[in-house]
Amino acid sequence: MKTFPPDLDREKLPQHVAVIMDGNGRWATQRGLPRAVGHRQGVDTLKDLLRCCKDWGIGTLTAYAFSTENWHRPLEEVNFLMVLFERVLHQELAALQQEGVQLHFAGDLSPLPATLRRQMEEAMALTAQNQGVVFNVAINYGSRSEIVKACREIAQRVQAKELRPEDIDEILFAQHLYTAATGDPDLLVRTSGEMRLSNFLLWQLAYTEIYVTDVLWPDFNRREFHKALQDFQSRQRRFGKV
Ligand code: FPP
Repeated sequence: MKTFPPDLDREKLPQHVAVIMDGNGRWATQRGLPRAVGHRQGVDTLKDLLRCCKDWGIGTLTAYAFSTENWHRPLEEVNFLMVLFERVLHQELAALQQEGVQLHFAGDLSPLPATLRRQMEEAMALTAQNQGVVFNVAINYGSRSEIVKACREIAQRVQAKELRPEDIDEILFAQHLYTAATGDPDLLVRTSGEMRLSNFLLWQLAYTEIYVTDVLWPDFNRREFHKALQDFQSRQRRFGKV
């Protein structure tokens, strides 16, 4: 499915898609393989989805790669994921740059391994001026702590008399979130059937259309994304109006 599906309306595409990439472990276990194989396969799925967004004209993709709660997984799996992020970033950066992808990382990067953090900061700086698809990777991301961080920063600005309490509105608040540059998703896709948000973008998803599929993340190919977009285009977005 390289070309744009003729049954979709280009005018009604989501401009920003977010994904909760769930089911890598189950995908591997079902095949009698180690969970790591599922994560590796999940990277390929993500790479193809990013390319699909570019091919079909979707401007921003946000992916939940590692939550603040994921540190509680077995140490071996956490270490594997950190090495995987480093390796993928190292291997893919030149191609992302060539394709004009603008990379962002959302989350508290400070507890990440220093080499990974440096790589991420360099990748953001290198791609900051790119005009292609915006690729926002949530790493060590938790929505509640993001909201607390925003409150703390705003309180400090009020204390410094840089702002008055009455200056605080939704626009200002959103400027203190990790997504200040990328905005709110139009469509959230969650794979592997779980009906929850798992501390992902709680503020930003206020009016987002949610699509949950039983398909496990490594199997979420263009055909499945096409179904999600068909479903999205069948919805009436009213934003609270009639
Ligand atoms: C959820 O599946 C997946 C993760 C916690 C990791 C997702 C990470 C990737 C796909 C790699 C992304 C790579 C980059 C460079 C951004 P799970 O392990 O929770 O699956 P399960 O629910 O079946 O156990």
